[in-house]
Amino acid sequence: MPRILHLTDLHLRHHQPGSAEPAIRLSRAMPEMLERLALKLPDLDIDVVVISGDLLDVPDEVIVSGSPDGRAHEDWLAEVERDFGLIRGWLSDTGIDYVVCPGNHDHEPLFRRIFPEAADFVDAAGIRFFCFWDELGSDRQPRRTAARRVLFEDALTLPQHNVPQIHVQHYTIDPPTLSNGAHYEYLDAAEFKRRIDASGRVRAVLSGHYHPGILIQDGAVLYSGPPAFCEAPHRFRVYDLAGDGGFLVENHSVTDPMKESGKT
Ligand SMILES: [Fe+2]
Repeated sequence: MPRILHLTDLHLRHHQPGSAEPAIRLSRAMPEMLERLALKLPDLDIDVVVISGDLLDVPDEVIVSGSPDGRAHEDWLAEVERDFGLIRGWLSDTGIDYVVCPGNHDHEPLFRRIFPEAADFVDAAGIRFFCFWDELGSDRQPRRTAARRVLFEDALTLPQHNVPQIHVQHYTIDPPTLSNGAHYEYLDAAEFKRRIDASGRVRAVLSGHYHPGILIQDGAVLYSGPPAFCEAPHRFRVYDLAGDGGFLVENHSVTDPMKESGKT
């Protein structure tokens, strides 16, 4: 039974200066929290690690080719690249298969440079993980368009993809969520959900973006986004996907006590 660890929305800044806003997003604590998470991995017996976007907190000005502080844009890019490299190094050091996709606070061209193996889908632990690099519209509501829409259709309909699937993307599909005047779910979320639920292929839809987290567990498909890892107590989830279509969701945080004494 594959076990999947899912964390999201780290909003990490280490080589980049400053921190995400608001202040509850503890960008600069992320390297330490990742180290603490790594110590828990042997006990958790994980087969695949999933990170569903906002690995970093890149300032909006940098994403659109500017700078928020008067320093050269290129200096920021070098720091962003090193911060992506920090997370890639952490993932590599775990020795566990991983699936990552960017969020709206990541810098997509540098994300692709540091994770060149990132592809439309990845097979791991007997599951096909589809990765949707979607985007926000000008109204801040997520959109799945063009090649990503084709990928979605292919995943649900092509014979060669008739295998157990997990869909990974930054944005949410279910439940509809309106917060601070913005929709967190896709513009066509209701249609996506109907198609996914009817496909018989998709076991779970794993998201980020909505920092309080989401969990819909009442049907054949799990819709889950853990609370943002950047906020204390730095939560993540572990999923056990059983052969009978059921699954178990465990909520964890890096501050949970370790299982065995002497390892805290
Ligand atoms: Fe985020």
